[in-house]
Amino acid sequence: MTEMQSGRSCLAILLAAGEGTRMKSRLPKVLHEVGGRSLLGHALSSLAEAGADDVVVVVGPDRADVSAQAQALLPAVQIAVQTERRGTAHAALAARAALAKDYDDVIVAFADTPLVRPETFMALRAALAGGASVAALGFEARDPSGYGRFVTRDGALEAIVEHKDASPEQRAITLCNAGLMALDGRRALALLEAIGNANAQSEFYLTDAVAVARGLGLATCALEAPEREVQGVNDRIQLSTAEAEFQRRKRLAVMAAGATLTAPDTVFFSHDTQIGRDVLIEPHVVFGPGVIVSDGAVIHAFSHLEGAEVGLGATVGPYARLRPGAKLAENAKVGNFVEVKAADIGAGAKISHLTYIGDATVGADVNIGAGTITCNYDGYFKYRTTIGAGAFVGSNSSLVAPVTIGAGAIVGSGSVVTEDVAPDALALGRGRQVAKEGWAKSFRDASLARKAAAKKP
Ligand code: UD1
Ligand code: MG
Repeated sequence: MTEMQSGRSCLAILLAAGEGTRMKSRLPKVLHEVGGRSLLGHALSSLAEAGADDVVVVVGPDRADVSAQAQALLPAVQIAVQTERRGTAHAALAARAALAKDYDDVIVAFADTPLVRPETFMALRAALAGGASVAALGFEARDPSGYGRFVTRDGALEAIVEHKDASPEQRAITLCNAGLMALDGRRALALLEAIGNANAQSEFYLTDAVAVARGLGLATCALEAPEREVQGVNDRIQLSTAEAEFQRRKRLAVMAAGATLTAPDTVFFSHDTQIGRDVLIEPHVVFGPGVIVSDGAVIHAFSHLEGAEVGLGATVGPYARLRPGAKLAENAKVGNFVEVKAADIGAGAKISHLTYIGDATVGADVNIGAGTITCNYDGYFKYRTTIGAGAFVGSNSSLVAPVTIGAGAIVGSGSVVTEDVAPDALALGRGRQVAKEGWAKSFRDASLARKAAAKKP
């Protein structure tokens, strides 16, 4: 919160009663995700960052799933139900009880407009602190059709006219209404209640708060944001546009914080991805939710990480998969075609090639040879594998859990290890090699003779 806004109380009303039919989905529109977080989650988080003290989410009837997620994300959230869809002002008035409480600032925002930055909400609040009764957010639309238009006179916002109600001259205006708005909390309820529905859609338009305020001689104010920030989501194509904008911002933020992205456009983050300084991320890397990468780590190309922690200076990939619960300590190495799940990998440990490590504890400086598999599942239960510090597991070994390999032990290549191995011991779990002198040559000779005999007429 800025100095000016600190001390001002703020109510946010988030409209989420949309039908979302154009998503062609069983899931309500606002629960679709961008950067691994729902549209609703993005809006709630931005409003919280903008200093909203209380938040009311307005849902449609039978939208228990939306209410449940709002409550999960923000336990103090209040839910109001708009039983009939009669327009944006009507929806905002579903929060009447909260509006009656005389907050300093009221923000009305749309849950299907997920990328409005907290700074933008704060700028609207600053306009209220500066004396405006209504502050609306506009943008220069590439294609203004369908949007409400900002009607200004001498730079002041006179009214917002919906596309369907606009005259041909008004339709030529390209400064459009993003939808969200801030209202003086002491007047918000009265302004919203004064809005009628004598318009092309017989709806109660939130946008009419501007004309109502002007009619009362109150100050109104228009702010502007880039179109990509206020882009709403109505269908899957707009969902992908919002995803692209989210990724663009996150890449810039990660680089600004000191990481190198060789090909930023090919790296995909989640909303909560944390990347340290001097991290190098090569092309084509995907971060699912819950990943933390510490300073100096390297994520080589074509790796997929989710719910994982990568320690200081550790290296991952190329072509590695870190699944939830994978934790790599300092300078650990997970190489190509290696999958790690629910496993702690100790400092300096190396798992360089073609390996699956799941439900395991791998000590410091352990070396796991190519093709090693922890057999962690018997079809019913999962079991743990524990490998002590400094142990060496030879290539192509199967470690049948539950099993413990002691510190400093060596497992011979190709072993199937079913019993615990003592520290510093050698474990061999494979057939003994048999060598038959001259066998190959006699086999070859006999076979060639048979072939030659078969060819004769
Ligand atoms: C609204 C604005 C328009 C603006 C556009 C930006 C109004 C009257 N118009 O138009 O000026 O350019 O957004 O995208 O505000 N909602 C409810 N209950 C309702 C109606 C709407 O909860 O009864 C919610 C919707 O779920 C949605 C938001 O309010 O999240 C906007 O409603 P929508 O019908 O999309 O308004 P637009 O016609 O797009
Ligand atoms: Mg809309």
